Amino acid sequence: MNKNMQDQLNALKLEMEQAVSKAKTDNELGEIEVKYVGRKGQLTAVLKGLAALDAKKRAKIGALANLIKQDISHAIASKKAELQDASLGTLADAEHADVTEPGIRPPEGHLHLVTVAIREISAIFEKIGFTRTRYPEVDWDYYAFESLNMPPDHPARDEWETFFMDAPVSKKGKMVLTPHTSNAQVRELERGEMPVRMINIAKCYRRQSDATHVPMFHQFEGLYVDKGVAITHLRGALEYFAKAFFGPERKTRLRPHHFRFTEPSFEIDVSCGVCNGTGFGADKQKCRVCKRGWLEIGGAGMVHPNVLKAGGVDPKKYSGFAFGWGVERTYMMKEGMQIDDIRILYKQDVRFLKQF
Ligand code: DAH
Repeated sequence: MNKNMQDQLNALKLEMEQAVSKAKTDNELGEIEVKYVGRKGQLTAVLKGLAALDAKKRAKIGALANLIKQDISHAIASKKAELQDASLGTLADAEHADVTEPGIRPPEGHLHLVTVAIREISAIFEKIGFTRTRYPEVDWDYYAFESLNMPPDHPARDEWETFFMDAPVSKKGKMVLTPHTSNAQVRELERGEMPVRMINIAKCYRRQSDATHVPMFHQFEGLYVDKGVAITHLRGALEYFAKAFFGPERKTRLRPHHFRFTEPSFEIDVSCGVCNGTGFGADKQKCRVCKRGWLEIGGAGMVHPNVLKAGGVDPKKYSGFAFGWGVERTYMMKEGMQIDDIRILYKQDVRFLKQF
């Protein structure tokens, strides 16, 4: 019995030591503790048997059992520490961060090419004293047409394939989606501050959609009204713009034209940047971009007296020039861009947009 108990204890010790060394988690260790050294544990059970032994044996076996209990408690504690160290090590590896490492840049977008063009155009005109204005893009017929010397039913209006709003008609007529930026002219004059140096850049709408037209596009409209403004000022301003926007080697020319709101009126051409205004490419063939050395950029002219009057300005005292060009078209000319279908500008196709 005595011998037996000693063997039993040693076997138990071996079993416990193996269990402890195999344990992989705190939980397992907890279970081992309960199973062997807990109140109802196996070692405790053996110790309870001590009472039946005589004093001498009890002392011997008791001492052994206590030793084993201590050893096991130590073994469990050190295994616990070992497990904790290991898990901190994994945590440190997992959460390791080198704060000096260069970061990962998020993908960066950029402005749409029309926005870029608008900013560039306004910056160029601001340098010669023009201020960018904002006027409605849904406006009365009066500002879009009538005040610009185009009475109701005048055939000249046909050129602007206008969207009319389904809205109540006022004294100023129907409401329209502005078909050009010229609606800003009389609105600006009505402010009654002289001189006027306005650059109005806005959306325009026309009922047109094909390879060279989009129903929504942008124009920039210049208006300069002061005492003694002459065609030479118009030429100077446009020449300045052409050189600043397209490059110092570019030239402009005025061709006679007709608009109801200017007199005289012109179409403005800019020398082609691809063939340098010669009309012929390096291969002696006609220039593929312009065919004749010049690119048509838009309309301009001296403000019609009726327009000045509509804006409350005395045409005997003041004169002015105006021009209105398409932003998309002008920008494409600058880039020497030949787009088969202009609608791609507004298709939100990043493969196209990324190139600019
Ligand atoms: N509004 C005209 C159009 O959309 C362009 C234009 C021509 C504007 C002559 C002007 C101008 O200010 O003087 O076709």
